[in-house]
Amino acid sequence: MKAKLIALAPPQPVQDSATALTRARYQRISAIYDRMEGLMEKRSRPWREKVWQSVFGPRVLEVGVGTGKNMEFWPKDCKVTAIDLTPGMLEIARKRADSLHRQGDDLFLADVQHLELPSAIFDTVVATFVFCSVPDPIQGLREIGRVVRPDGHILLLEHVRIDRPVIGPLMDILAPLVVRLNGASINRRTVENVRAAGLQIDHVMDLDDVGMFKFILARSIR
Ligand SMILES: C[S@@+](CC[C@H](N)C(=O)[O-])C[C@H]1O[C@@H](n2cnc3c(N)ncnc32)[C@H](O)[C@@H]1O
Repeated sequence: MKAKLIALAPPQPVQDSATALTRARYQRISAIYDRMEGLMEKRSRPWREKVWQSVFGPRVLEVGVGTGKNMEFWPKDCKVTAIDLTPGMLEIARKRADSLHRQGDDLFLADVQHLELPSAIFDTVVATFVFCSVPDPIQGLREIGRVVRPDGHILLLEHVRIDRPVIGPLMDILAPLVVRLNGASINRRTVENVRAAGLQIDHVMDLDDVGMFKFILARSIR
């Protein structure tokens, strides 16, 4: 039976030009996104699995679901609400959800910087490789802090600026070019952004030798 989970709303107008540009960039690459990320995916798949093993439910929000690469790890006993800014990415996620027979979940277009969701309704919020592309990451992180329960978990898998003498400044130089190609800023300081958003960091796990890939576990402070 087909999963009957998703009604795709027409794209909502975004509230600023930087967000419109982000959506346009991901819309342009949505059809080739999975192939573009093919090599990287081999590396990140075990990280995704690890993140989802730390999820507790029953109500889970996945922010920036993209083409749905995490869906195979979505716990069977959780109801997942998944949002993304980009219609083309969400459409691929919808097909993947259908093929995985996820029933009872919700996927819809939304901007994490302005969530039209009540406060404190999720047990866990997850985002993987998202806050490199949200135009105002601190505002987006504040919003997930608002919608998670006070004792709920925020789990982030992110690539960040490498904090080392030569490579860090090189990432700063290359960042404007890379963001045009694939929508992601390679020099985000996401750990610092999480703190700046007023969230409490419980743990930051380095996933590689140079400190580029991080698993961040945080909570909302209320
Ligand atoms: C690099 S992709 C990662 C997709 C997926 N999370 C993954 O792990 O493969 C970044 C995703 O974040 C989405 N995104 C960017 N800005 C967003 C925003 N303000 N609100 C919601 N989603 C956003 C993009 O549309 C894109 O699908």
